[in-house]
Amino acid sequence: MKLWGGRFTKKTSELVDEFNASINFDSRLYKHDIRGSIAHARMLARQGIITPEEAAEIERGLIGIEEDLDAGRLQFSLTAEDVHMNIETFLIERIGETGKKLHTARSRNDQVALDIRLYLRSEIYTIKVLLFELMSTLKVLAEEHVETIMPGYTHLQKAQPVTLAHHLLAYLEMLRRDWERLNDVERRTDFMPLGSGALAGSGLPIDRDYVREELGFGHLTRNSLDGVGDRDFVLEFMSFSAILMMHLSRLSEEIILWASDEFGFIELDDAFSTGSSIMPQKKNPDVAELVRGKTGRVYGNLMSLLTTMKGLPLAYNKDMQEDKEPLFDTVDTVKNCLAIYSPMLQSTRFNVERMYRAAARGFTNATDLADYLVKKGLPFREAHSISGKIVNWCLEKGKTLEEVTLPEFRAFTPVIDDTVYAEIDLKACVEKRNLFGGPAPSAVRKALDEATEFLGTIDPAKR
Ligand code: ARG
Repeated sequence: MKLWGGRFTKKTSELVDEFNASINFDSRLYKHDIRGSIAHARMLARQGIITPEEAAEIERGLIGIEEDLDAGRLQFSLTAEDVHMNIETFLIERIGETGKKLHTARSRNDQVALDIRLYLRSEIYTIKVLLFELMSTLKVLAEEHVETIMPGYTHLQKAQPVTLAHHLLAYLEMLRRDWERLNDVERRTDFMPLGSGALAGSGLPIDRDYVREELGFGHLTRNSLDGVGDRDFVLEFMSFSAILMMHLSRLSEEIILWASDEFGFIELDDAFSTGSSIMPQKKNPDVAELVRGKTGRVYGNLMSLLTTMKGLPLAYNKDMQEDKEPLFDTVDTVKNCLAIYSPMLQSTRFNVERMYRAAARGFTNATDLADYLVKKGLPFREAHSISGKIVNWCLEKGKTLEEVTLPEFRAFTPVIDDTVYAEIDLKACVEKRNLFGGPAPSAVRKALDEATEFLGTIDPAKR
């Protein structure tokens, strides 16, 4: 007999049982469901809706169920449909009539809205720990490479010299914004929906605020229709995840490029790369490729739930049961990707020599030559044009700018003297870009101090 079977005279088709059931995936909410039920039962007793003895019996029953589920001693059943009714069914089997009182002044609609919020809240914490770890890893790596000169790129063409620290700190900036976004998600998840009932609250004298306090939420949902009908906090989490994965995917793309023989900027540790079943020489950056690849499913999950929610009339609709698989998949994917990323980066060897050589060829100091001519009084457009001509001449002769002799320089313009060499020296080129936000070691050291301070204030372990 179904918990809702009263008005039915026929058995549900087995096809419907199977089609309707969510237990195969929402079983992962059982701890949150039990926690919510215990708070609800305590509140019912405080309000005199059930007796304190009944509440205690319900609580003991639920704790026993949780222990048995933890130990794998209990099997969920498809006919009980979802995690909420499975647990309620277990409870009634165990404690009989009293168990039937738990669902007073409650609906699965507000129950599931609560469970997802409890679940997400705890997963957000785990993700924060992992994201913090990755941010710290980037910062520590950057500290080691404040002086490591590498080419910066635009259009994937060598552009101007930067440092590896500066490049890594660019990713730290992206992750810091992701961190902020996750905090926003957390703030908007911190609303307690129980008491919304099926859609219109309850006429029984319940105390929503007590339940909120018991479950450690900051706020109550302010509208019962919205409390059960909204999933935008889930969408925001998925949106945060999509952007985070986009960032990780870009970093992955660079790792994949940098690990190639053509770049040779890094060597991935053996423990974080894989071989080929046919080509003995291969060492592949599979981890970075998979992170890049998994970004697709995280985008897809966001799109899937946005599309599910679009056009739903208020309040709850069964369509919304389709929120869980994409949410769970997103949580798992983000956690897996973050967890593997820090140790992969920590074990990567950076080929400082190769990076410098790459910056030294490819005229990354051509802008500095133009800037030099500007300092000598030429208008920038003219300086740009003369530098371009010198680069073109160098390309023909197979020279770098540093290898051009003074007479050769002066054939292009007499304003050049021997001070030019100090201006186009790669190290000098980087060092003079010491403005706020720039790649100069002196600026990067300040950025690192600020990053250290920031990380010190947000460390999830210290909160
Ligand atoms: N399993 C459902 C879900 O995940 C729980 C809520 C069902 N409510 C209902 N009235 N059928 O959305």
